[in-house]
Amino acid sequence: MSTPSTTLPGGTWTLGDLTVTRFGYGAMQLAGRWVMGPPADHDGAIAVLREAVDLGITHIDTSDSYGPHITNQLIREALHPYPDSLHVVTKIGGRRDEQGGWPTERRPDQLRRQVEDNLESLGLDTLGVVNLRLGNADGPVQESIAEAYETLVDLQQRGLIRHLGVSNATVAQVDEARAIAPLVCVQNMYNLAHRLDDDLIDRLAADGVAYVPFFPLGGFSPLQSSALSAVAARLDATAMSVALAWLLQRSPNILLIPGTSSVAHLRENVAGAGLTLGEDDLAELDRISPRGS
Ligand SMILES: NC(=O)c1ccc[n+]([C@@H]2O[C@H](COP(=O)([O-])OP(=O)(O)OC[C@H]3O[C@@H](n4cnc5c(N)ncnc54)[C@H](OP(=O)(O)O)[C@@H]3O)[C@@H](O)[C@H]2O)c1
Repeated sequence: MSTPSTTLPGGTWTLGDLTVTRFGYGAMQLAGRWVMGPPADHDGAIAVLREAVDLGITHIDTSDSYGPHITNQLIREALHPYPDSLHVVTKIGGRRDEQGGWPTERRPDQLRRQVEDNLESLGLDTLGVVNLRLGNADGPVQESIAEAYETLVDLQQRGLIRHLGVSNATVAQVDEARAIAPLVCVQNMYNLAHRLDDDLIDRLAADGVAYVPFFPLGGFSPLQSSALSAVAARLDATAMSVALAWLLQRSPNILLIPGTSSVAHLRENVAGAGLTLGEDDLAELDRISPRGS
């Protein structure tokens, strides 16, 4: 599945029939503080998106609830008409309230409207990949997803969505979705310090399904650990580079969508993620959070 048809670290992966670079970009950080409202630096946000594409990134992750609508509008302003190689992955299943909360909205009529909103704000006729965002802001919640996922399958059959994924999902929900219709990716929280999905990652890898960790760098609380700092110092690299390189080495089906609002950080992350971690480095990093915890 991985091919070296890019100079970006990690090569490429195929989501259904869409080839993307394993090094992608997550656009959430481009909205304002707490992912509400416009960015403090509009031109800076546009520059980050254009730099991502100039660096060869072909996978941008977004949601119409970022801002709300702000990141999709920025992506459209910066990059539309999109290069054929670029694939924007969005997610639906919730909205923002005026207090900045993330209430869920997964009734069929709500999901249909969210797909229409994404098509409109991104300026697309078909959404390349749509993740059904499950659970709530506190994490995954075990409940049936059949009605919501079947709604997405219906929208896919009507040509509005090319491929489906799930996000913030339990293992049982991933299995439930796959029993209804194929999915190309699972987007859950996972990083060096949060490894609940280790077994799921291995199972999806065996089946050719992508796993896309959100908060790969720790999200709103960037990863901090003495082991991470020690490995980074030994390799003369940044801690962020080590965290991203570890994910790329962890499994070939892992796709990166690190977020940043800084062109300098974006370049630094791309340059650093190709680092090769040796057995000693991996053993030390494994001690930050034991497998599966
Ligand atoms: N499915 C879901 O429920 C869900 C939830 C959350 C996020 N997501 C997706 O996942 C993507 C990634 O998550 P995220 O952006 O929240 O978290 P992240 O990628 O783990 O971390 C982003 C943070 O790291 C900082 N950072 C990045 N590169 C850096 C560097 N080289 N040096 C120092 N700091 C650096 C950024 O600050 P600067 O801006 O200063 O660089 C930002 O504060 C999001 O963009 C979004 O698309 C999905």
